[in-house]
Amino acid sequence: MAEHKTRLAVFCSGTGSNFRALHRAITEKHIDAEFVLCLSNRSECGAMEYARENGIPALQVSENQYPDYKDFVAAMLYALNEHRIEYIILAGYMRKIPDAIVKTYHERIVNIHPALLPKFGGEGMYGSRVHTAVLSAGETESGATVHMVDEEYDRGRILMQETVPVLPGDTPETLARRVLTCEHELYPRALRKLLNAQ
Ligand code: GRF
Repeated sequence: MAEHKTRLAVFCSGTGSNFRALHRAITEKHIDAEFVLCLSNRSECGAMEYARENGIPALQVSENQYPDYKDFVAAMLYALNEHRIEYIILAGYMRKIPDAIVKTYHERIVNIHPALLPKFGGEGMYGSRVHTAVLSAGETESGATVHMVDEEYDRGRILMQETVPVLPGDTPETLARRVLTCEHELYPRALRKLLNAQ
């Protein structure tokens, strides 16, 4: 019998560079899992394109498609069931995960945040806002955090963190680039650790 690979869904809204880094780690057999679904609120974005190019089902599920929020949540749950998803990997997904999904996938939703949580997290802390806040606070280091997702923004159990220095003359853009490079190495390492511990 073929060995079971953990079935992953990735949720994305943008470029999908973390998705690519994770997919590469899986292809290179550093992580014993497979992406069987890419779900996005947008039909066109870098992540969805990458999924299509790599034969991973790319599905748009957006609140805009459903006048009733309940139907939107039901569509998401249906897709997750249909693809027999075991873990949800958030990689630049710019929407709040519905509570029903958080409950159903308790301790099985993972996120990466571009700062050292619990600092610089919470509602509204995303993208360049995070790096602007880090620089304004005069921090000498920043980094990335991989954590489990619960009902509150950026508050779930921390799995792994990695630091990067904040350098003199940094702008939100230069800091963002340094943190993102660090994310691409950290996320595969953290996911591998999580899945190996199951
Ligand atoms: C990353 O900085 C990640 O920490 C945050 O969103 C960004 C996604 O970038 N959650 P990408 O789409 O993976 O390139």
